Amino acid sequence: MAGRGKWKSSFGFVLAAAGSAVGLGNIWRFPYVTGKNGGALFLLVYLVAVVLLGLSVMYAELSLGRYTQRNPVGAFNAIKPGSIWRGVGFLGVITGVGILSYYSVIAGWTLYYMFTSAAGKFGEGITQAQVDRIFSSFTSSPFLTVLLLFVFILITSYVVSKGISSGIERWTGILMPLLFVILVFLSIYSLTLPGASRGLKFYLSPDFSKLNFNIILQAIGQAFFSLSLGMGAMITYGSYLSKEENLFAAGIEVVTFDTLVAFLAGIVIFPAVFTFNLSPSEGPSLIFKTLPFIFSKLPLGRIFGTLFFILLAIAALTSTISLVEVATSYLVDERKVRRPKAAFLVGAAAFVIGIPSALATSVKPFTNFVLGKDFLSFMDFIWANLSLPIGGLLLSIFVGYVWGARKAAKEIRGYRQGKFPGEDIWIFLIKYLVPVALLLILGSILI
Ligand code: PHE
Repeated sequence: MAGRGKWKSSFGFVLAAAGSAVGLGNIWRFPYVTGKNGGALFLLVYLVAVVLLGLSVMYAELSLGRYTQRNPVGAFNAIKPGSIWRGVGFLGVITGVGILSYYSVIAGWTLYYMFTSAAGKFGEGITQAQVDRIFSSFTSSPFLTVLLLFVFILITSYVVSKGISSGIERWTGILMPLLFVILVFLSIYSLTLPGASRGLKFYLSPDFSKLNFNIILQAIGQAFFSLSLGMGAMITYGSYLSKEENLFAAGIEVVTFDTLVAFLAGIVIFPAVFTFNLSPSEGPSLIFKTLPFIFSKLPLGRIFGTLFFILLAIAALTSTISLVEVATSYLVDERKVRRPKAAFLVGAAAFVIGIPSALATSVKPFTNFVLGKDFLSFMDFIWANLSLPIGGLLLSIFVGYVWGARKAAKEIRGYRQGKFPGEDIWIFLIKYLVPVALLLILGSILI
């Protein structure tokens, strides 16, 4: 297709895909979901889910995207024209907007913390009560949370409106490595804290007797969320990839980097949680109540804290860019909407849908919406824990049986001769293990 744009280089693609994957999912969501689900055992189940399900689905998405060179709806349609499989692509488009709506609320929180840190509010000797007060006075302000949601979505739509390589590729390249370096540094510091051994025990020494369906469901949801899978983000990014690139290597690189960042985030957070007597099962506010203590103790903590939240906001931005990009590429390819208009339309929709999530910490009934969850947690459950695994299930059936795993494998191989490493294992996983595992787990929550 003419005029769709391409990545300038394969490194640019890996960075952009890693940029999509690495975000609040790794640094905000992973530690709190791990903390809520008992720590080490969750980490273990999560890693298994990443290797067996995540990597397999990553290849399925990238190959489908590159083969068809289309947005998710167009990709399914290119292989089975006129069939209802298009609906899977469409579910992805909707899921992207759904996730974007509340994800940007938390991204807005990172902006607030960036300013708070810059203003020197996380100073030495900060108390628990002060940290709590900073968090609750901000999150109980409907005006601020909605405003920052708006700002964040606006920035995202602006970048996406500028198009694929000038916008997305340029942004990601420089700052991701910096975030990584800071995380390594912070984790080394955390390991010197007095609560480090208790933190590490919680995080790394599993108690197998606690294993249950809910932990598995949460771990799978987290794996899909963190790797940006199950909604066509990787189909879309793969579609901008040229035939020369090595999909096999790209997939492993993205998955490894993403998992490493999440793992490090846990190494930063849990020692601090135990040192400062916080609760690992605090929930979505976990990092916002833990990190200020770390920065307050660090030499040059004000600068570090500010830099950290700037980088976290940027990591969130490279993820929201991919969320907006899915629906935008759909509107551009299939509905012939001009890119800038499409990007701002998607942003506007997500902003409106996101308002109740922005009010989830301040305004009734959103503070306690259904099933004891506030609106934001409710959205997160629907989109991340249900919709992404459902998308992954349908995608694996489509690639495994409708398109055909052999044909997909050929696309992963590219122009290279012979099978890619682990090709037969991948075919087994995508045809049998992935759909069966997802079906079982999704089935179990219905019952
Ligand atoms: N993977 C992103 C993160 O970890 C979130 C995301 C999910 C982005 C799904 C795109 C699609 O923050």
